[in-house]
Amino acid sequence: MKPNMHYGELKDSYLFYNISKKINEYLSENPGKKLYRMGIGDVSLPLCESVIKALHEGVDDQAVKEKFHGYMPECGAPFLRETIAKYYGRRGVELASDEVFVSSGASDELGDILDLFDKSNTALVIEPAYPAYVDANVMAGRKIIHLASGEYNGFLPDPDESMDADILYICSPNNPTGAVFGKEKLKKWVDFANERGAVILFDAAYEAFIEDESLPHSIFEIEGARMCAIEICSLSKTAGFTGTRLGYTVIPKTLEREGMNLNAMWVRNRTTKTNGISYILQKGGAAVFTEEGQEQIHRNIAIYKKNAKVLMAALDQLGIWYCGGKNAPYIWLKCPSGMGSWEFFDYLLQEVQVIGTPGEGFGKCGEGYFRFSTFGSPEDTERAAELLVQLLGSK
Ligand code: MLT
Repeated sequence: MKPNMHYGELKDSYLFYNISKKINEYLSENPGKKLYRMGIGDVSLPLCESVIKALHEGVDDQAVKEKFHGYMPECGAPFLRETIAKYYGRRGVELASDEVFVSSGASDELGDILDLFDKSNTALVIEPAYPAYVDANVMAGRKIIHLASGEYNGFLPDPDESMDADILYICSPNNPTGAVFGKEKLKKWVDFANERGAVILFDAAYEAFIEDESLPHSIFEIEGARMCAIEICSLSKTAGFTGTRLGYTVIPKTLEREGMNLNAMWVRNRTTKTNGISYILQKGGAAVFTEEGQEQIHRNIAIYKKNAKVLMAALDQLGIWYCGGKNAPYIWLKCPSGMGSWEFFDYLLQEVQVIGTPGEGFGKCGEGYFRFSTFGSPEDTERAAELLVQLLGSK
C-alpha cells in the first residue's frame, strides 16, 4: 500500500490542535489555573429552548412505531430542506428545496465537497483564512494559490487576471478578520468565476452575525452566482450547534461545468457516501428557522455581540489596531509592541491566561496579528478584557 504522500506536505499539526496542546502543557505545569478561552470559535451558550423542545420531540418520535424514522434521505429531510429554502426566500433568494443539502456541519462539508473537483484544479485561498481550506487541498494534492490580503485592502481583495485558479474560496463574514464583502465587491468575484469557468466555494458560516443589512448574507444575493457558486453554511455559530453538528449546503441546479451538473453530482455523492443526518438533529435544526427559534438564537447572538463590544472597548483603551467584531464574531488585532503572533499567544497565556488564536495560523500574512473569538461567557470575557488592559496598559 502506498499512503497519500501529500500528508507529508502538511504542517506538523492542525492549528487548533497545536493550541490545545500548548494549553494542556501549560495546565499540566500550572494545575487548576483558570483560563479565559477566546481561541477556537466554540460557543458557550446552550441550545435555545425551541431547539431543545424539538430535539426532545424527535427522541419521542423515535419511540413510537407510527412516528419512527429509520434511514433518512441522504440529501436531507424534505421538511428541513424546505424550511431552509424558505429562509433564503425571506431574503429574496429563490431556491428549490432540492438545491439545499443537509450536512453534518460546514467543516466536514468543506472537505467532502472537494470530491466534485478534479485533482488537477488549482484552488485559490484568500488569506488570512480558515486553515482547513488549505489543508484539505494539500491532502488532495491540489495546487494552491495563497492570495494575501491586508489592512491596505480591508482584507477584501479583488480578483485579477493573473489569478489562474479554478476553485475560489470566499468566507464572508470572514474568519478570522471579520471583514465582509459588500455586494459590489462580491459581484467582481462572481463575474471573474463565470468568465473563467471557476467555481466559488462560499463559506457563509457567520452570516447570522451581519448587522449591516446592506451586506449580503448569501452569495446568491448576487446576480450570476447561480451559475458559479456553492454556498456552505452551518448552524454551529448561528445556533450553538458546535457540539450537536448540523449544517447545509446550497448547490444550484444551474451550476454546470463541462456538461456535468454539480447538483446532480452531489446527489450521487451523498447517496453513495452517507446515510443521511439523524432525524432527531434535523428536527432540532428545523426549529432554528421558526419565528420563535430565530428570536431565541438572535438573543444569544446579541450576548456574543456584547462580548465583542467589551473586548473592542479594551482594545480602544489600549490603542491597539483591530477590525471585525461588528458583523462577525471575531476580532482581528495587531499584536502590540511588534510581537509575533505565537509570541503574543505565549505571553498572554503565561501572564494572564487569556487564550486567543495566533494570526500566523491563518496563513503567512496573518503573522503579527491575533484573533479573539467572542463566543466566551460574558463573565470570562469581561475579566479577560480587564486583564488585557492591566497587562498591556503597563507595557
Ligand atoms: C474557528 O475557531 O476558526 C472555528 O471555530 C473552527 C471551526 O469552525 O471549525
